[in-house]
Amino acid sequence: MISLENITLTFPDGDSTVTAVDQVSLTAGPGTVTGITGPSGSGKSSLLAVAATLIKPDSGRVLINDIDVSQMGRAEATLLRRNKIGIVFQQSNLIPSLTAEEQLTVMNELGQKHPRSSRPSATARANELLGSVGLADQRHKRPHQLSGGQRQRVNIARALMNDPSALLVDEPTSALDQERGASIIDLILRLTDELRTSTLLVTHDREQLPRMHSAVHLVDGKIADNSTLDRARSGLQGEGSRH
Ligand SMILES: Nc1ncnc2c1ncn2[C@@H]1O[C@H](COP(=O)(O)OP(=O)(O)O)[C@@H](O)[C@H]1O
Ligand SMILES: [Mg+2]
Repeated sequence: MISLENITLTFPDGDSTVTAVDQVSLTAGPGTVTGITGPSGSGKSSLLAVAATLIKPDSGRVLINDIDVSQMGRAEATLLRRNKIGIVFQQSNLIPSLTAEEQLTVMNELGQKHPRSSRPSATARANELLGSVGLADQRHKRPHQLSGGQRQRVNIARALMNDPSALLVDEPTSALDQERGASIIDLILRLTDELRTSTLLVTHDREQLPRMHSAVHLVDGKIADNSTLDRARSGLQGEGSRH
């Protein structure tokens, strides 16, 4: 479960400040996706950065599994991000020299004392996840050998490597055509259901919102309309199981 409670975030702007996020509250439970839309500059990425513990809000709380993570120190927040939060940024930030499989296994070696000892299980987990995102055959390819959609799939698989409770995804379809974009959204809905992550999904595409469990629309950092779309979770699960 991830809950944002009354988050406000400002940035300095010359002599004054700009309010990027203005008293926003939202929640995603295990196995559900909360969509976040809004025009460019409405605070979507800022809100996600707060949820990811990358930026401390001016006020408000971020609860992950009922623990307040918004005021943690740097070291503690880094550990939390590694163990509890999966992040997919807007720009794919894959490492050019690594294969798809290595992009995932390297996650497991970061900050570990004895990375070698966990290598076989990390490789197994990486291949299981690459299979889940439809890239079993591409695991030895490097980013330049993959399409934009495939790279985004690697990004998503990598974010899931450490079995996070919360999955935070920022505009995963912005560089893709409509069809590929829709299939990335399908993938996120299915993986959220299968892996029981609590998912926040920023998308500029309002047409996708009815497929999510709930959605908020941001304008100037504020929630403009909060349509809790009462999509029966069973409906989405049914969809996931068809794939
Ligand atoms: N690091 C920053 N420093 C100053 N202002 C920022 C920073 N990041 C975002 N902003 C401002 O905060 C507002 C929200 O930006 P952002 O969260 O990126 O919106 P979105 O993701 O919806 O396009 C914008 O006015 C933007 O200029
Ligand atoms: Mg953004």
